[in-house]
Amino acid sequence: MEEQQAQSGEGGAWAVIRLEEVAKTYDLGEVQVHALRGVSLEIGRGEFVAIMGASGSGKSTLMNILGCLDKPTRGRYFLDGVDVSGMSKAELARIRNRKLGFVFQQFNLLSRTSALENVELPTVYAGIAPEERTRRAREALARVGLAEREGHYPSQLSGGQQQRVAIARALVNKPQIVLADEPTGNLDSRTSVEIMDILQRLNEEQGLTVVIVTHEADIAHYAKRAIEFRDGRIRRDRPIEERLIAREVLPTLPAPEGPEAEKPEAGAAPAKDAAPVAPRA
Ligand SMILES: Nc1ncnc2c1ncn2[C@@H]1O[C@H](COP(=O)(O)OP(=O)(O)OP(=O)(O)O)[C@@H](O)[C@H]1O
Ligand SMILES: [Mg+2]
Repeated sequence: MEEQQAQSGEGGAWAVIRLEEVAKTYDLGEVQVHALRGVSLEIGRGEFVAIMGASGSGKSTLMNILGCLDKPTRGRYFLDGVDVSGMSKAELARIRNRKLGFVFQQFNLLSRTSALENVELPTVYAGIAPEERTRRAREALARVGLAEREGHYPSQLSGGQQQRVAIARALVNKPQIVLADEPTGNLDSRTSVEIMDILQRLNEEQGLTVVIVTHEADIAHYAKRAIEFRDGRIRRDRPIEERLIAREVLPTLPAPEGPEAEKPEAGAAPAKDAAPVAPRA
């Protein structure tokens, strides 16, 4: 019957990501670390999900599996309807390049390479013709508002600008899903909201599915749904009520060049143009 598609309401064909009882155990010889202990989850096309939970609860392990960077020890992962859990490394790499874009906490840009070349890199692996590569990279940089910075090296850009380059790089192969592990973890509060603005626009205007990991409850409020992990399991999964819209919040924040010291929680956050930006413990 129609049962298998309709099980969980909007499940089945609707889900661009579907995990069935996924477990991940790291085998360290003497010890086995059960990083994920049976996670079942569906994420629909066009969703914007925040993954939350204490340090060590399995968030990055989950993201690595969603991103086809790692395979589950048990369970199955359907990406866009295709079971990828048994695929070879080469097949996973191909899927990753075609369907997924990644953004990391530390930006992970090549330092001696211009913004434009950083953004172009994934198109090289995707085998796109050189003129087309540059065209696409310029288009992606324009989408994150950095068209006029294409010749800059990462050291010549602020933390927020570097993260925008990283987002452009994630977009250049036109993925269906963007996965971001703590994308605002190294940024001050205003810059964090600017990054959330870009992600919200991509989600709304391009229908991109966005999954981010964040420790910060206020950042999770820009998502549409929050999934909280504890000890490798989903503890809570709920829609965000009173969602924040970054485009509306930005005008209420102090101007970018204004002194950070005004804000009570800004003491520990690096100023926007201060370099280098220290990673959070
Ligand atoms: N490559 C690995 N080898 C062995 N154990 C690992 C590995 N990666 C993660 N772990 C362990 O798996 C558990 C989950 O780690 P994970 O990195 O997924 O947590 P997290 O929720 O992302 O934490 P954080 O918020 O600190 O980034 C932890 O106990 C961690 O020590
Ligand atoms: Mg992590």
